[in-house]
Amino acid sequence: MSLVRIVLVGFMGSGKSTVGQVVAGRLRWHFRDLDTVVESAAGKSVSRIFAEDGEERFRALELAAARESRALYEYVIAAGGGAFAQPETRAALATPDAATVWLRCDIETILARLPSDGSRPLARNRETIRRLLEAREPSYRLADKVVDATGGPASVAERVVEAVMPERARSQNEGR
Ligand code: S3P
Repeated sequence: MSLVRIVLVGFMGSGKSTVGQVVAGRLRWHFRDLDTVVESAAGKSVSRIFAEDGEERFRALELAAARESRALYEYVIAAGGGAFAQPETRAALATPDAATVWLRCDIETILARLPSDGSRPLARNRETIRRLLEAREPSYRLADKVVDATGGPASVAERVVEAVMPERARSQNEGR
């Protein structure tokens, strides 16, 4: 089966959205951020969904967004940091025609990247982040590929393309 979606998973701050857009640009594919889909469906920001409706409601909207994404062709998809830790959402994302990629990042890089502006309701402090990261790693490991997400978006994007489409990465590099 040919590959029609690349799904980026991993912790908040691992660069899924930024890197995803660069990968999409390189492949001339489209890009979709599942959090943005959830926000449009709810008509409010992720932090407001958590505050007003609770995490359960957010996870239900996230699952619906993941299921909808199964119809997409030639898309790079950035999943929210918790998506792959939810078995049903993971199953909706990890279809045979998709490559799932874990953008693996150490806690220091994550802490340095995450703004403490309340936009990520689950990333309140270092201890919460550490515990959540540890609890989620076994789920992230279920991704098809693991890519080191430290460094700039261009180099991480390059690693993603190399991991899932080595021929494409080679032919693009030769064409430079
Ligand atoms: C979440 C990560 C966020 C967003 C929500 C919950 C999580 O996405 O989906 O705040 O559970 O880790 P990002 O990973 O894009 O920040």
